[in-house]
Amino acid sequence: MKKIEIKNISKMFTVHTRGGLQVHGYEDISFDVNQGEFVSLYGPSGMGKSSVLKAIYRTYTTTSGDILFYKNENESLNIATANESDILELRKNHLGYVSQFLQVLPRISAVDIVAQPLIEKGESQEVSKEKAKHMLDYFNIKEELFDISPLTFSGGEQQRVNIAKGIIAPKSVLLLDEPTASLDKINTQKVIDKLIDIKKEGISMIGIFHDLECMKKISDKIYDMKGKKYADNY
Ligand SMILES: Nc1ncnc2c1ncn2[C@@H]1O[C@H](COP(=O)(O)OP(=O)(O)O)[C@@H](O)[C@H]1O
Ligand SMILES: [Mg+2]
Repeated sequence: MKKIEIKNISKMFTVHTRGGLQVHGYEDISFDVNQGEFVSLYGPSGMGKSSVLKAIYRTYTTTSGDILFYKNENESLNIATANESDILELRKNHLGYVSQFLQVLPRISAVDIVAQPLIEKGESQEVSKEKAKHMLDYFNIKEELFDISPLTFSGGEQQRVNIAKGIIAPKSVLLLDEPTASLDKINTQKVIDKLIDIKKEGISMIGIFHDLECMKKISDKIYDMKGKKYADNY
């Protein structure tokens, strides 16, 4: 079943601090994602990969084109034109986004941050915290850090907390912008293994990887942002 269909989307950013200067974000991008499929966006820096993910999450609107999100076979929402309340509902129940950087409030512990998505899903505090500890442990976060705010963690530790939070309670579609960018080989492999598990559960994902080996391991399709087609020999 088709989950997301991107049809000819383009974005012109208007830079207001530069007298309305126009900058191309991305141009004429089309691809689709089926249920349980991992699609990677591939292309040089500045091609608009992150901006496409932000368009799907509707951090920004697109200048033209459609982004269809299929709730089921017969019902789709056009993210490109949907109203704010439909977007909030989509984010709450169906669409997750993992950026490269952890963004959290001060004074909240690593465990509480990772447990939060489970609690929001209706899981009890106790079970959520237990699962969060397992997840942190899986990503090699030292136990002595569990009750501390991750704002003082190293970059790699922060990124592992970020990915743990992002995948502990995955919604039906997950957007991943370089989730392994500052991780070592072992932790990168751990992230890939978890993403493969999530894929088996039928979650659809769109991801960006700086590491081509990673990208090849996880992807069912790779969309070449420059050639504007799926890459067939990579
Ligand atoms: N908020 C913004 N305002 C203006 N220009 C932007 C904004 N976000 C991205 N861009 C521009 O859009 C282009 C694509 O950026 P980006 O999506 O980050 O590329 P990639 O992720 O492929 O490296 C770049 O030229 C960038 O400068
Ligand atoms: Mg980017």
